[in-house]
Amino acid sequence: MVRPYTMKGHKRKKKSEEDKYDREGEEEEEVAEEQPDGFDEDDQGQEEEAVHEMEGIPIGPSDRNTKKPGVIFVLEKASLEVAKVGKSYQILNSDDHANFLKRNNKNAGDYRPDIVHQALLSILDSPLTKAGRLRAVYVKTEKGVLFEVKPHVRLPRTYKRFSGIMLQLLQKLSITAAGKREKLLRVIKNPVTQYLPVNSKKIGFSYSSEKLVKMRNHVATISDDMDLVFVVGAMAHGKIETDYTDGLVAISGYPMSAARCIARICEALEDKWDIL
Ligand SMILES: C[S@@+](CC[C@H](N)C(=O)[O-])C[C@H]1O[C@@H](n2cnc3c(N)ncnc32)[C@H](O)[C@@H]1O
Repeated sequence: MVRPYTMKGHKRKKKSEEDKYDREGEEEEEVAEEQPDGFDEDDQGQEEEAVHEMEGIPIGPSDRNTKKPGVIFVLEKASLEVAKVGKSYQILNSDDHANFLKRNNKNAGDYRPDIVHQALLSILDSPLTKAGRLRAVYVKTEKGVLFEVKPHVRLPRTYKRFSGIMLQLLQKLSITAAGKREKLLRVIKNPVTQYLPVNSKKIGFSYSSEKLVKMRNHVATISDDMDLVFVVGAMAHGKIETDYTDGLVAISGYPMSAARCIARICEALEDKWDIL
């Protein structure tokens, strides 16, 4: 069950006809409203009005005032799609919605929100994050919605509660810690490049890259005062397509989960920066 939250002044967006599934014979079920690519100044005003307090999202401990170079993760192609299944809106996943997806001619194997959950936990649990070196995480969904995750957020560890929070984020556009004004999760305007430090090194990751590197050696070659941006896929199949990275590297001769790939990246940096 999703923990309680409070909400004021929320305006619903119009449904996009184009993105609805074929609903023949599906009177009870419909795809949720198209999620926006971001919001303009006016929308931000509305968003200010809407305060969503999540008791389930406390602020975690981390050294937040470090001036040392930092790390940003971008998780691309995350499977976080909202649909009305029966009477309620839900984040679609291949376990719980196999029949629904089949009826709507969708490949259930593509609906894997657990991948982004595990990837986020892998980032947020790392000593690198606890040492205050994580600047931000940006998640871009398969549908093109971009949101920011603050480094000090403590996400639910169980999938059920995580999906409840993702659902509220995608519907209300931001989530604030209980009793605070700071938004710990918020939908933001595309493109992600406008939030990345100008002089940062941006590395994309793919098993299919011909450049196979040992991550520890690879990060050792990067200047010590440069911020680093790591772009990892949060989807089940396919390859990240990014025009903003300085190329793609493979960091193992084997395909890994996004969470495992992230753990390898974090460990290499913890080594480089003597974070124990
Ligand atoms: C579940 S995988 C995606 C599956 C996809 N077939 C692939 O291998 O790219 C999630 C992400 O982990 C990263 N990844 C997985 N194995 C990797 C490897 N050996 N080297 C570099 N990145 C890897 C990639 O960014 C990938 O998009």
